[in-house]
Amino acid sequence: MGAKRDLVSMLDVKDDLVGLLELAGNIKNRTKAGEPYEPLRGKSLAMIFEKASTRTRVSFAVGMTQLGGHALFLSPNDLQIGRGETIVDTARVLSRYVDGIMYRAFKRETVMELARNASVPVINGLDDKEHPCQVIADLFTILEHKGSFKELKLAYVGDGNNVCNSLLLGAAIVGMDMTAACPNGYEPDAEILATARRLAKDSGLKIHIVDDPVGAVQRADVVYTDVWVSMGQEKETEQREKVFRRYQVNSKLLEHAKKDAVVMHCLPAHRGLEITDEVIDGPLSIVFDQAENRLHAQKAILSRLLAGV
Ligand code: CP
Ligand code: NVA
Repeated sequence: MGAKRDLVSMLDVKDDLVGLLELAGNIKNRTKAGEPYEPLRGKSLAMIFEKASTRTRVSFAVGMTQLGGHALFLSPNDLQIGRGETIVDTARVLSRYVDGIMYRAFKRETVMELARNASVPVINGLDDKEHPCQVIADLFTILEHKGSFKELKLAYVGDGNNVCNSLLLGAAIVGMDMTAACPNGYEPDAEILATARRLAKDSGLKIHIVDDPVGAVQRADVVYTDVWVSMGQEKETEQREKVFRRYQVNSKLLEHAKKDAVVMHCLPAHRGLEITDEVIDGPLSIVFDQAENRLHAQKAILSRLLAGV
């Protein structure tokens, strides 16, 4: 066995992203054909969620079952973490029982500390900086709908949050132009942006951060949005809803995108705020294909990290 592989940032799969997307496609085809595929027979995944989750929780749990393994849902309040046991000791102990740990955290440092101290792979199920599993599924969805990343432009409209950060890295890695339209003061993480720009420069891609949503979606092939208030930012709701009003993805904004553009949202959506009902339920929306693909992408990630497939 080689060294264990973690997935904390999109950068951890930089050299294998295309391969992972291919694997997700193969696994999806097998599932649709009703062919069993169980490389994780007898293996267990611990899933610890500091925050709520529908898609990540269910797709990891169902994914483990379909791959022949088993997932345990653990809340920090029920674990001894809630009573002060350290992340370091938790990482060491869980590594003696399970074959992988998925963690959804408020802070990046928690996931890093877990990864440093666990002898089994650690998968970031979302933190304040990134949401890599989401973006791997998103890139897979874009590939399914558009066939290739070549000459594509992704326009992200809204908060420069964890999802936007991972999209910047993901776009730079696969070779897709990306423009993010974010209000002043709500831009993506500066360090991640610099890394994405460095990667993009090598391949001649364009990565732009602007504040005008209309300019951003001009000639876009993919229009992507996410919530204005991420988990943990609830106290800022009133202020954010004011600042972001102009960043709603609605039919009027989409007039500026390409005619065959697709609309994406990682969900959960706040209908009537960052996206209208008309758009999310409309013909350009691929939001529910995107949600389904969390399952197929998760299975690729799990097979790769836990069984070296
Ligand atoms: N998109 C996503 O991660 O959804 P959940 O918060 O429901 O897991
Ligand atoms: N940016 C959102 C994504 C939820 C899946 C959040 O962090 O709450």
